[in-house]
Amino acid sequence: MTTESNNTIQFTPDRLEKAKEIIARYPEGKQKSALLPLLHLLQEQEGWTSPEGMDYIAQMLDIQPIEVYEVATFYTMYHINPVGKHVIEYCRTGPCCLMGGEDVYAHLKQRLGIDAGQTTVDGRFTLKEVECLAACGMGPVFQIREKYYMNLTNERVDEIIDELSK
Ligand code: FES
Repeated sequence: MTTESNNTIQFTPDRLEKAKEIIARYPEGKQKSALLPLLHLLQEQEGWTSPEGMDYIAQMLDIQPIEVYEVATFYTMYHINPVGKHVIEYCRTGPCCLMGGEDVYAHLKQRLGIDAGQTTVDGRFTLKEVECLAACGMGPVFQIREKYYMNLTNERVDEIIDELSK
């Protein structure tokens, strides 16, 4: 593992220790298996998964940067562009749409004044479209970090946005 970096981004000492511990879980030569948790560490520290951060992780795992980029761009939980304080990941899959998800989504976009992939001017909210969040019976659903907001209605969306805007 290489921890020296030419990048401006480096893990904090705590996170570097955590990264080493994660990498040590895997056999020699299989350090790429630590990629997903290291990307989570990076995003937790930086707020997003920046190209410089991905290069840093590639260097740390002794793999090619493209091997990091292809993983980070595949999973929607990695934010490959800067995001706002709250990232709303809105389910756009069929069952949620059948439960009124389209109307609630339109209301949410109008309330925030942004479209998918955008961030509000105050930097508070980013809106992302995602596939099924595995809570289909309680749709419409969106997720902010680890928290699920289910059975959404326009009124409930307003309450949530009001609460998070304080
Ligand atoms: Fe929305 Fe499954 S379709 S959670």
